Amino acid sequence: MAKKDRYAKAPTTERGDLSAQPRLHQRAAEIQEYGTVSHMLPLDLEEPVRLEMTEQLNLLLADTMTLRDLYKKSHWQVAGPTFYQLHLLFDKHYEEQSEIVDTIAERIQLLGGVSIAMAADVAETTRIERPPRGREEVPVQISRLLDAHQIIIGHCRKLAERADNLGDAGTNDLVVSDLLRANELQVWFLSEHLVDEPLVRAEEPKLRNVG
Ligand SMILES: [Fe+2]
Repeated sequence: MAKKDRYAKAPTTERGDLSAQPRLHQRAAEIQEYGTVSHMLPLDLEEPVRLEMTEQLNLLLADTMTLRDLYKKSHWQVAGPTFYQLHLLFDKHYEEQSEIVDTIAERIQLLGGVSIAMAADVAETTRIERPPRGREEVPVQISRLLDAHQIIIGHCRKLAERADNLGDAGTNDLVVSDLLRANELQVWFLSEHLVDEPLVRAEEPKLRNVG
C-alpha cells in the first residue's frame, strides 16, 4: 500500500468504522455566536432580559478576570519589607477572584449566553487600565488593585439595581452576595495598607502631617 493511501482514512476494525485513532485537528462553525442567548429556556425570563444581563455580566467577567490576573502579577512581583504578608494576601484574593470568575461565567451560560473566556478577548473588553509588564512598588500595586475594585464595585451597584427592576432575582443575588460583598471586603484589606502609619516608633503629634 502506498504511503499516501495508508493515511487516507482511519484504520477500520472488524466492527466496521470503529477505530481507536483520535480524529485530530478538527474545526467547524460555532454552535452559538458570542453576544447571543438561546431563544427559549424554561427560566421564566424573557429573551431581552437575558440578553441585557449576559451583556452586563460579560463586562463584569472581563474586569474580574483582569483583576484576578492583576492579583497574580502583584503576588509574583511584590517587593519590600511587607513582602511576605502581601505575597500571601495577594494570592488569597487571587483565589477568591478565581471563584468569582467561575460564578459569573456559569451564570452567563445558564442564562443562555456565551461567556467571554480568552485573554485577548478579555483585554479588548476590560475597563481596567493595563499595567506595565515590569515591577512596580507596593503603593502603586495596591492603588492599581483598588482602582480595579472600584470599577467592579460601581458596576455591581448599577447592575444589581437593574437586575432587580427587570425581575432577574438570580443575577441580583449573585452580584450582591458573591461579587459586591467579596470586593468590598478585599478593598478593606488592601486600603488599610495605604494608611501612613509608623512601623516601629510612634511619632510626636506635632511632627505629623508636616510637609
Ligand atoms: Fe505563588
